[in-house]
Amino acid sequence: MKKTVLVTGGAGYIGSHTAVELVGAGYGVVIADNLSNSDAGAVEGVRRITGVEVPFERIDCNDGAAMNALFTRHAVDAVIHFAAFKAVGESVAEPLKYYSNNVGSFVTLLGSMRTAGVENVVFSSSATVYGQPGTLPATERTPRQPATSPYGATKQICEDILRDAVSACNGLHGIALRYFNPIGAHPSALIGELPRGVPANLVPFITQTAAGIRGELSIFGDDYPTPDGTALRDYIDVVDLARAHVVAVERMLYGAQREPYEVFNIGTGRPVSVMELVKGFERANGVKVPCRVVGRRPGDVEAVWADTTLAATILGWRSDRPLDETLRTAWAWQLSLKD
Ligand code: NAD
Ligand code: WQD
Repeated sequence: MKKTVLVTGGAGYIGSHTAVELVGAGYGVVIADNLSNSDAGAVEGVRRITGVEVPFERIDCNDGAAMNALFTRHAVDAVIHFAAFKAVGESVAEPLKYYSNNVGSFVTLLGSMRTAGVENVVFSSSATVYGQPGTLPATERTPRQPATSPYGATKQICEDILRDAVSACNGLHGIALRYFNPIGAHPSALIGELPRGVPANLVPFITQTAAGIRGELSIFGDDYPTPDGTALRDYIDVVDLARAHVVAVERMLYGAQREPYEVFNIGTGRPVSVMELVKGFERANGVKVPCRVVGRRPGDVEAVWADTTLAATILGWRSDRPLDETLRTAWAWQLSLKD
């Protein structure tokens, strides 16, 4: 029988792409989102791409009664929990907002899942838990560093909550996926990243600069001990990332999961510098991105990229979209926003 996956935060950037891949893999999908950082248009995009009238529930995951009611309306087999706030800088200014929403909603969700007897959950974690790793690439065994922002702290706390909930509750299965730097958009350009205000992340800033919305891109530091002096990251295509969720759900639902709590890095395993990314974007799309080197951004690490061996061997997942293709999807999405 067709299994159903509840996608919290499914109107958001990564959630909407994951909803599409889940439908494509034959799952029933329910999207729950309070639209605090998204637009119902993303749900429409998912419906248009898939041709399926995916149900949408406008719900705050902190609302336990609403979450309990949702689980009575839908027979859910697994949950992917994307719903969270994600702006690192804002989390420093408004820590309580982040602890309350990110940690609170996860605790509420796990409680509602227990009440409803739902035993499988994938949690959206982040490479931010590694800080600046002592050795690279980062493996899942690389020690987590003390968080440098309340946002990062919420990811570490939620990983620990999941580990503890799984160990206390026989039957509960959890997988934490640590995403590196998700970029790009669906090739249809019907869904993508919708930054509010001035983008903090590199690729949305690049696309807005190329589109003339921003005057120039500031490159935060070219004096790092890296080949070209700019910082290194692991940029993962959002559709490849979405596929990782499908295989994680598969592993929980079809019994291949050996440990009830597992953690996987989801990246490409390839370090790419800021300068390489900017040049790659210009080459892939035939557009110019005016830029200027400025000082380092406080709190930035110099280099982090993933060892993806575990995801490849255990999940059978790897990223296969070439970077230039991903950068073309990012640009196509930006252009679609002008219409
Ligand atoms: P996003 O903001 O686009 O999506 C999050 C969605 O959750 C939004 O649609 C928002 O409206 C919704 N939401 C937030 N709080 C909610 C609540 N209490 N109840 C219901 N809905 C709520 O962000 P994204 O980039 O898609 O990120 C998804 C997840 O992945 C987040 O947990 C984020 O921390 C994590 N993550 C993101 C990145 C990244 O760079 N984008 C990297 C690592 C991890
Ligand atoms: C990438 C590189 C910047 C903007 C953040 C969060 C992390 C995770 C992903 C959620 C860095 C440089 C950027 C600009 C620049 N999110 N840059 N000019 O900092 O690796 O990670 O998003 O979990 O937690 O911290 O991503 O896209 O902001 O930056 O030079 O205008 O681009 O300095 O080297 P980051 P990013």
